[in-house]
Amino acid sequence: LTLNAGLWLAGYLLGSIPTGYLVGKLLKGIDLRQEGSGSTGATNVLRTIGKGPAIAVLLVDILKGAAAIALVRAVYGWEAIAPFVPPTADADQWLPWMSTIAAFAALIGHSKSVWLGFQGGKAVASSLGVLLAMSWPVGLGTLGVFAVFVAISRIVSLSSIAGAIAVSGLMVLFGEPAPYCVFAIVGGLYVIWRHRTNIERLLAGTEPRIGEKLVAPD
Ligand code: G3P
Repeated sequence: LTLNAGLWLAGYLLGSIPTGYLVGKLLKGIDLRQEGSGSTGATNVLRTIGKGPAIAVLLVDILKGAAAIALVRAVYGWEAIAPFVPPTADADQWLPWMSTIAAFAALIGHSKSVWLGFQGGKAVASSLGVLLAMSWPVGLGTLGVFAVFVAISRIVSLSSIAGAIAVSGLMVLFGEPAPYCVFAIVGGLYVIWRHRTNIERLLAGTEPRIGEKLVAPD
C-alpha cells in the first residue's frame, strides 16, 4: 500500500507541475489565473502569450499525464520500459487499477495544483497524456475527435468536451479493461465539469474561437 500511495502521490505531483503558470510568469511576468479564461492550460497560454509557448505547454502537460502512468508501469512491470522488473500475475491483475488511480491523481494535480493554491488547468492535455500511455489507440482516437471538432468549430473548449464524451465509447470499442473504462467515464465527466464556465459561454454564444479574445459575458 505504501508503494501504491507513493505512486499516486507521484502522479499528483507530476500533474501539479504548473507548466502554463511558469511560462506566463517567466515570459510575460503575468499570472495566467488572472488572464483570459483564468486557466493555466495551453489554450489560455495561446490566448495570452502565443503559439510557441502554447505548444511547449501542451507537450509538457501531455508528458506529465503519460509519465504518471509510465511510472506505475515501470514499478509494476512493463517489459518495454523496465526489463529489470519482471511482470507477475499480481501485476497483471492490479496494474490497470493502479494506473487508473494514478491517472485521476495526475488530472487532479493538474487542475488543483498544490503550487497554485489548488487552481490550475482543465485537465485536457494531461488526460490525453494519460490516455496515450494507457491505450494509445484510444488516445489517438480521442485526439482525432478533438481535432475534427477544432477543424470545424475552431473552439477548443467545445472540442475538449466532445473528446471527453467520445473517450468512453472508444475505451469500450477497443475492448480495454474495466478500470480504464471507469477512468474514461469518470475522467470524462471531470473534464466536462472543469469546463462549466465554458459551457455557460457556449450557450450564451460568447465562447471565443481560436485567435479571438475572450470577452467576459458580464
Ligand atoms: O484546454 C482547455 C480548453 O478546453 C479550454 O480552455 O482557456 O478556453 O477555458 P479555455
